[in-house]
Amino acid sequence: MKIIVAGGAGYIGSHTVKALIREGFEVIIFDNFSSGKKELVIGGEVVVGDLMDKESIRKAFGLKDIGAVLHFASLIQVGESYVNPQKYYTQNLISGLNLLEVMLETGIKNFIFSSSAAVYGVPQQLPIPESHPLNPVNPYGQTKFFFEKILEDYERAYGLKFISLRYFNAAGADPEGQLGELHEPETHLIPNILLFLLGEKEGFNLFGMDFPTEDGTAVRDYIHVTDLANAHIRALKKILASPRSEFINLGTNKSYSVLEIIKKAEEITGQKVNYTKKPKRKGDVPVLLASKQKAEQLLEWKLKYSNIETIVETAWNWHKKNAGASP
Ligand code: UFG
Repeated sequence: MKIIVAGGAGYIGSHTVKALIREGFEVIIFDNFSSGKKELVIGGEVVVGDLMDKESIRKAFGLKDIGAVLHFASLIQVGESYVNPQKYYTQNLISGLNLLEVMLETGIKNFIFSSSAAVYGVPQQLPIPESHPLNPVNPYGQTKFFFEKILEDYERAYGLKFISLRYFNAAGADPEGQLGELHEPETHLIPNILLFLLGEKEGFNLFGMDFPTEDGTAVRDYIHVTDLANAHIRALKKILASPRSEFINLGTNKSYSVLEIIKKAEEITGQKVNYTKKPKRKGDVPVLLASKQKAEQLLEWKLKYSNIETIVETAWNWHKKNAGASP
């Protein structure tokens, strides 16, 4: 059976493609390579196309025997979404709507969506269960929230079945060293620390030391990208076996502050991380911590790589290997 992976040349998409191939699925990567990277394509059939262009989506769907669609392709920078909400609403919503339209035309009903913990906004309860109120605090999070609403309406009206996976902080790299993070620009904490240590970035900024947390820096739930990828396999098998729509957190129920991550990076790399204190970024919440109960129970999924040492080590190995070659 063929699986369409929109955004399969991106960070989380490429790790999931690797897992899909290992599981024996035939993969069609649909990507416009605007942020996807050729270096992150290590298998599968590639269809270069743009989700803003329905004809190019139809071409990919013209390939026979498609069982499901995984949708990773989206803009992901919270800060940019504040400055340019139009870009985010247009791109993230219309591209997803186009994809759903072609799915309905071709009678494909199984959909796995890359959602985000950003749908919750500032947590009222920790760890955050899936039943937590949805109150996104930035346009990026709004696009994920609106798309989840769209999915619910499409299920009711057209019988679409979806699993919306709400990622917490994806981090780390393929333990076999084939894949890793290659964002451009890079805005995430762990790669920014490591790229700075490798001399690939001039400085490292620590955004916000006045959060209402123990050490004043923001606290996040970091999940290894290979664990995320494996959760997609479980979700896909689940929806293929018994189509039922669900919203599921993907996190670890463990969290670390920015200062704790800096300390881990120092331990693993043996280097000192000198940082420049900067004000908080707009839209950054103080704490994110996932309840992972639903994922474990429903998907029969277990974390394998998400201890923080493995996350930082695999990321470090990847960035060292790619030093000098980064975009
Ligand atoms: N940070 C720094 N310096 C940096 C980068 C980040 O201090 O160079 C801080 C941030 O301010 C934040 C924390 O490190 O407090 C984590 O930042 P990331 O950018 O790594 O991750 P975010 O929690 O901001 O965002 C991630 C995803 C979003 C998603 C969000 C919630 O990138 O797409 O998790 O799921 F919305």
